[in-house]
Amino acid sequence: MSLHPKEKELYQKLDLQSIPHHVAIIMDGNGRWARKRGLPRIAGHRAGVNSLRETIRAADQVGVKILTLYTFSTENWKRPSKEVRFLMKLPEEYLSKEIDELCAKNVCIKQMGEMEGLPEHTRNAIEDAMDKTAENTGLIVNFALNYGSRGEIVRAVKKISRLASGGSINEEDITEEMISRFLYSGGQPDPDLLIRPSGELRLSNFLLWQMAYTEFWFSETYWPDFKKEDFLQAILDYQKRNRRYGGLTK
Ligand code: FPP
Repeated sequence: MSLHPKEKELYQKLDLQSIPHHVAIIMDGNGRWARKRGLPRIAGHRAGVNSLRETIRAADQVGVKILTLYTFSTENWKRPSKEVRFLMKLPEEYLSKEIDELCAKNVCIKQMGEMEGLPEHTRNAIEDAMDKTAENTGLIVNFALNYGSRGEIVRAVKKISRLASGGSINEEDITEEMISRFLYSGGQPDPDLLIRPSGELRLSNFLLWQMAYTEFWFSETYWPDFKKEDFLQAILDYQKRNRRYGGLTK
């Protein structure tokens, strides 16, 4: 593995036996990164793709099993149409360039969010990547694209309600496990670690149900400046946390 000295130092400190299984990331600060440089916002998103690529590589290298990336929220449609159009083109641009490397790394691509609301070209690119990587057994990368957590919960409740009114389940059958199963993330364990760069300290409608016991890690760095060493540092800090899930330390 080729690592810079700082990355090597961090990597050597990692406990490879307690790497977080599932890491979720809010890739924030692209716009501010661009503004600081007098560039249009879309330049920030383009630069953010480099951090995304590096982060996928780092997650794969250290043995993270699931990476969930907040790529576009259901609230992001409120942005200027030029920016939205650009963000809808990025997945196909990224995937067409990177799909071979992703396949070589045995990465499996998944989508979390409403496919129906996406432009056809974006949907096709994601579906194509999902098809090509469906049999891969390595790192799972969930792209949360057109994703909103409250909407996801409403969707799950409607599905369960349909089962109940059709008589296939009773009230007692409705459990936390069942609700989890009906979310986009159904079948995947909850995130162990949430990373949010850029200085914002909020969840922004991301994985509200799933993050009941997730450890949070924040930094001031804008996403396009987020490097492999930031990712390794987040994992190192995570490894110092004492996760009690409401219980007491053993
Ligand atoms: C938030 O920063 C970022 C986004 C809404 C988009 C994130 C998308 C990428 C990093 C690229 C995705 C690429 C692929 C391949 C799916 P912001 O624009 O809200 O930043 P600001 O808060 O500084 O304005």
